Amino acid sequence: MKKILAVIGARPQFIKHAPMELELSKYMEVVTVHTGQHYDTNMSAVFFEELKMKEPRYLLQVGSARHGKQTGQMMIELEQVVEAEKPDAVLVYGDTNSTLAGALVASKLHIPVIHIEAGLRSFNRDMPEEINRVLTDHVSALLFAPTVRAVENLSKEGITHSVHLSGDVMADMVQIARKIIQNPPIVHPYYLVTLHRPYNTDDPVRLSQILDALNGLDHPVVFAMHPRTRHKLLAEGVDPGHWENVSIIEPLSYFDSIAHQAYAEAVITDSGGVQKEAYLLGKKCITIRPETEWVETLEHGWNTLVFEDLDALNQALKQHPGYYQADLYGSGQASVEISAIIKDFLNFPIK
Ligand code: UD1
Repeated sequence: MKKILAVIGARPQFIKHAPMELELSKYMEVVTVHTGQHYDTNMSAVFFEELKMKEPRYLLQVGSARHGKQTGQMMIELEQVVEAEKPDAVLVYGDTNSTLAGALVASKLHIPVIHIEAGLRSFNRDMPEEINRVLTDHVSALLFAPTVRAVENLSKEGITHSVHLSGDVMADMVQIARKIIQNPPIVHPYYLVTLHRPYNTDDPVRLSQILDALNGLDHPVVFAMHPRTRHKLLAEGVDPGHWENVSIIEPLSYFDSIAHQAYAEAVITDSGGVQKEAYLLGKKCITIRPETEWVETLEHGWNTLVFEDLDALNQALKQHPGYYQADLYGSGQASVEISAIIKDFLNFPIK
């Protein structure tokens, strides 16, 4: 039986791995390594329970650190795991430091790297995620691009071999979640907010400006706060209750997150995955970033970028989106199709 080793470590990867683990297990042994990049219960364990995922065989306790140390520590430990397990391929998702660590270790040990969510580009190399994406794509043997644009991005970098336009596994999960969530989690109109990008959270002046802008919105704001953001507020001695229009809550579990988005007036975020989920749920999204890798969401006004001028937030929230393409991120069967291709690839690998 073929063996695939999946490297996951940050919240969005647990969500992407859930449908993949289920499908891949029909054909091969799936061994999971959790790097420990996200470690708080509500950033990690809650997803394994809720999404009924197998416990990872390996739980590395890398935790938070500067990028070099965090990625390096992961590589040291992953190398031992890969050498012990001798998998036929290593599977990585998205663009986090865990993705890069898995991709580098496997490629240096001459084990094929399979990248799900390949070809995304923000064209902003100040983002660690952009470096992680580019490097991972260039060492991958099999690449699954969620959108036509992602395939084009890869082609412009000379990557045309073993690229599959697969749709997005997060769309598979949203379809499942929609059947499970029945009732609004909050009865009054509200905006849902999530923010964790260093350029929004690490400068206390910037973070306060964003919170001031949220405080001035026409509906109450529910801010599901990432630990990174909470730590920054606490480090500055700021009382999170200072903004009366903003209720700060703990990070949400997956189904709670989808429910909070589905019933919100609009979603305000700097997360990549949330922009996509908002689109899949037919919700207007405002992205507090200068650019996005999910450019398709911008085209008919479903997503609007607001960055320097936070006063534009109000105006952006009032704009109604236009044409909606239900299958923009695939039919909800991406995990099924990707798994079948991986099965064939492992039987006849092309390095
Ligand atoms: C990471 C990914 C980002 C992804 C995000 C999803 C990288 C470079 N970034 O960002 O692409 O969108 O995950 O959430 O890989 N922390 C805790 N508890 C936890 C996890 C984190 O307190 O369980 C705090 C730590 O103080 C840490 C900070 O969050 O300093 C940042 O964590 P880190 O893993 O560096 O990246 P994220 O900001 O979560």
